[in-house]
Amino acid sequence: MDGNGRWAQEKGQDRLFGHLHGVESVRDIVEGAAELGVHFLTLYAFSTENWDRPEYEVTGLMELLINTIRKEVPTLNKNNIKLHVIGAVDMMPDYAQKALDEAIAETSTNTGLNLVMALSYSSRWEIINATKKIANDVLNGKLKPDEIDQDKYNQYLSTAAIPDPELMIRTSGEHRISNFLLYQLAYTELYFTNTLWPDFRKENLYEAIIDFQLRQRRFGKTGDQLKQDQLH
Ligand code: IPE
Ligand code: MG
Repeated sequence: MDGNGRWAQEKGQDRLFGHLHGVESVRDIVEGAAELGVHFLTLYAFSTENWDRPEYEVTGLMELLINTIRKEVPTLNKNNIKLHVIGAVDMMPDYAQKALDEAIAETSTNTGLNLVMALSYSSRWEIINATKKIANDVLNGKLKPDEIDQDKYNQYLSTAAIPDPELMIRTSGEHRISNFLLYQLAYTELYFTNTLWPDFRKENLYEAIIDFQLRQRRFGKTGDQLKQDQLH
């Protein structure tokens, strides 16, 4: 979700004004994804690197995030949406951790859309974290180096219970991954749009999904092999 700051600056407003409007897009996209029957939607809401922004923006973002999550729990429950969080949540203020724990617990029995918030998240943090845990398990004799394969490695990532994304959308005209799910995006279709996040609504999501549906996903195979696979 990128472009909140530029959206606000274009209007001569403070960056936090952009974040406030970005929340409207989050509401619309979460609702749209749930209506379409999407099983997993991951929103990159706050990166490890975002901690280095000016203090007033970090504080403003934290408060907005937490107030929104608190306020939206009844709607999440109404729409059968289960909340998850990935990231270094222990870096967040206590009040934020508490609010997140509560929202996760209150939505834990929902069976529809899994809404994953990436908070204080970065892929390099996650990969290093996984490596540390693996090293410890090897040291403690719980794991043998030979047992480490893709399935095993996956269990050490914060996305252990979440399938790899099929489609990644980045708004605001930037063509970068910026430390987002680097390992998990290996075969993900990437979609970039110039639309700034506060302007991104259901119709824009549909456009991205239609674009995705027109692509041929070969996973390293040839086009002919895929045709053969479809016949069987
Ligand atoms: C994305 O918008 C929102 C967050 C990082 C939380 P930005 O704040 O990065 O907006 P730009 O890139 O400055 O326009
Ligand atoms: Mg940005």
